Amino acid sequence: TITPVILCGGSGTRLWPLSRKSYPKQFAALIGDTSLFQQTALRLSGPGFAAPVTVTNQAFRFIVTQQLAEVGIDPGAVLLEPSSRNTAPALLAAALRLAQHDPEALILAAPSDHHMPDAPAFRAAVQTGVTTAQAGGIVTFGIRPDRAETAYGYLEISPDAPSPSPLRRFVEKPDRATAEAMMSDGGHLWNSGVFLFTARTMIAACARHAPKMLANIRDAIGRARPDLGFLRLAEEPWAACDDVSVDVAIMEKADNLSVVEYTGHWSDLGGWDAVYRHAATDGTGTATHGPALAVDCADTMLRSESAGQHIVGLGLRDIVAIAMPDAVLIADRSRSGELGGVVAQLRAMG
Ligand code: GDD
Ligand code: MG
Repeated sequence: TITPVILCGGSGTRLWPLSRKSYPKQFAALIGDTSLFQQTALRLSGPGFAAPVTVTNQAFRFIVTQQLAEVGIDPGAVLLEPSSRNTAPALLAAALRLAQHDPEALILAAPSDHHMPDAPAFRAAVQTGVTTAQAGGIVTFGIRPDRAETAYGYLEISPDAPSPSPLRRFVEKPDRATAEAMMSDGGHLWNSGVFLFTARTMIAACARHAPKMLANIRDAIGRARPDLGFLRLAEEPWAACDDVSVDVAIMEKADNLSVVEYTGHWSDLGGWDAVYRHAATDGTGTATHGPALAVDCADTMLRSESAGQHIVGLGLRDIVAIAMPDAVLIADRSRSGELGGVVAQLRAMG
């Protein structure tokens, strides 16, 4: 069986004001009635999958258990981070925890901010990587790019090698010119951020590429404290870890990566423009959500997140407007990717 390790401790600032420090995007129902976190847990459940290990910030612990219960998923183990240290420490903590029982445990590392509507097709793609992972490889799942996105990592592959094909090079979040070159040469896929490996493989990769982090996390797991069914990682060694993503700490450096191309629909709902692209629109390209009225608008999205609050757009073009009870965003749709920096400014204002 495969144990899903669901990473859901990110803060998703580019989807402000729906995504908040206290309630980030992965827990919000952005598309459909369930959250992206719930959709992730459901996608990785059923035959062949063990109960998940969820790694999250301690602040989100009850959101996690409540949302899993809502969709009928066994909560498995929930590891709590005392502070945010990005995905490398989170994933390694889960691998060390699972290795205590079985070093050969197969792990599927899964971000929780993806929209992948065809779950059976994705589960089938995962199965094609199992043998390679059991033999000590790290299998990544790649998506054929349709634009020069700079918010994703890129996987360089040999176009005609059989799948899983050995990865030539991993480039995390390139600049625009590099992304355009990689997009047009046909030999690169987007990194979906989903990885399959054994606990032993990940620990060995970390011993090689991030030994200090491994020592700290061993300590954080060794001194972890059970609390109401949660496992609280020890604060002091955790705080001593660098804030670094698994892509940068391990994947860019490892030499045992293989790629399975996933051809089903995949999207990281990272910003409002991505949410807009997935929303149902009328003949003018306008999408509304909640009590919203769009008059003579085009290529615009209006969302109200509370039943008591109406939002009206009149004569708008290429706008996203999001109304929360305590905050409103009105933005040029093409610039919604800049929101992360804007939210940082807002937080600095206090
Ligand atoms: N537990 C935990 N702790 N989870 C975290 C943390 C953390 O400190 N930080 C982020 N996460 C979770 C997020 O909630 C998300 O589900 C996942 O880890 C990935 O983090 P993102 O911050 O969304 O990463 P990204 O989208 O910028 O980049 C990654 O994903 C892309 C595809 O979606 C990279 O893997 C890219 O290479 C990749 O293309
Ligand atoms: Mg993401």
